[in-house]
Amino acid sequence: MTRYALITGASSGIGLAMAEALARRGRNLLLVARQRDRLESIAIELTQRFGVEVLFRACDLSEPLRLSGFLLELEEGERQIDLLVNCAGISTCGPFLGQDWMTEQDLIEVNILALTRLCHAVGNSMALHGGGQILNVASIAAFQPGPWMSTYHASKAYVLHFSEALRIELKKYAINVSVLCPGPTQTAFFSKAQPDGKTLRSTSNSMPPEEVALYAVRALERNRAIIIPGRRNRWIALLPRLGPRWLVRILAGRSNKACYAR
Ligand SMILES: NC(=O)c1ccc[n+]([C@@H]2O[C@H](COP(=O)([O-])OP(=O)(O)OC[C@H]3O[C@@H](n4cnc5c(N)ncnc54)[C@H](OP(=O)(O)O)[C@@H]3O)[C@@H](O)[C@H]2O)c1
Repeated sequence: MTRYALITGASSGIGLAMAEALARRGRNLLLVARQRDRLESIAIELTQRFGVEVLFRACDLSEPLRLSGFLLELEEGERQIDLLVNCAGISTCGPFLGQDWMTEQDLIEVNILALTRLCHAVGNSMALHGGGQILNVASIAAFQPGPWMSTYHASKAYVLHFSEALRIELKKYAINVSVLCPGPTQTAFFSKAQPDGKTLRSTSNSMPPEEVALYAVRALERNRAIIIPGRRNRWIALLPRLGPRWLVRILAGRSNKACYAR
C-alpha cells in the first residue's frame, strides 16, 4: 500500500507550507480543504517540483456528513495514511454574544469535531498498520483563556490537551502524537476572523508560514510533544503558567480587544 501524509487546511497558509515542506522530503500527500481549484493547482505544482504523488479531496469539514463520506472513501481505499496533519482551522473575534451562531458552530465543527474524528478514524487505521504520526495544529492561544476570541482560544486549548492525552494513549500502537502551537503567522487567517471586513491586527512579530512549517517538520522528525516555533512565542506560552489566572485572563482580553478594535 502506498503511504500518504494527509493534510487538512492544505489550500493556504500553514497547511500549504506543511504540504510543501513534506513534499520536499519526498512524502506523498493527500490534501484536504474546501477550495477544489486551489487544491488541484497545488497538487500539480508540488508533483512537478518534487516528483511525489499528490492527491486532493475537496471537503467542507464543518459538515459532518461530508466528512463521513470522505472517511468512508479512506476506509475503503488502498491508501495508507502514516502522517495526519490536522491544520484546518477558523476563528471569530469580537463579543461572543454578537457573533453569528452558525459561524461559531462551524468553528467548533472544524477546530474540534472534525479534528477529533479524523484522529479517531485515521488513528484506528494507523494502529492496524503498525503506527504513524499525528500532528494537530493548536496555537499559543491554547495556553490562556481569550476574552473577545473566547471560542477560538477554548477550541485550541481543547486541541492542546486532547493531543497531549492521545500522545500517552497511542504510544503503545507506535503512533506519535504532537501538537503545533504557532504564534501570529503571516497568513490570511487574521483577515478571515474579522466579520466586518476590517483587518484584524497581526503583530509585527508574526512569522512566515514556511518558517513555521519547517520548524514543525524538523520537530516532528525528533518526535517533539509540543512544538512552539519562535523564541518569543515560547515565552508567551510560558508566561500564563507563571502569573495568577485572574491577571492572565485580563491581559489576554486586553490584547485581543486591542486587535479587534482596530
Ligand atoms: N495564522 C496565525 O496567526 C495562526 C496562529 C496560530 C495558529 N494558527 C492555526 O493554524 C491553522 C492554519 O491557519 P492559517 O493561519 O494557515 O490560516 P488560513 O491560511 O486561513 O488556512 C486555513 C485553512 O483551513 C481550511 N479550512 C477552513 N475552513 C474549512 C472547512 N470548513 N473545511 C475544510 N477546510 C477548511 C482553509 O481552506 P479552504 O478555505 O479551502 O477550505 C485553509 O486551507 C489553523 O488551525 C489556525 O488556528 C494560525
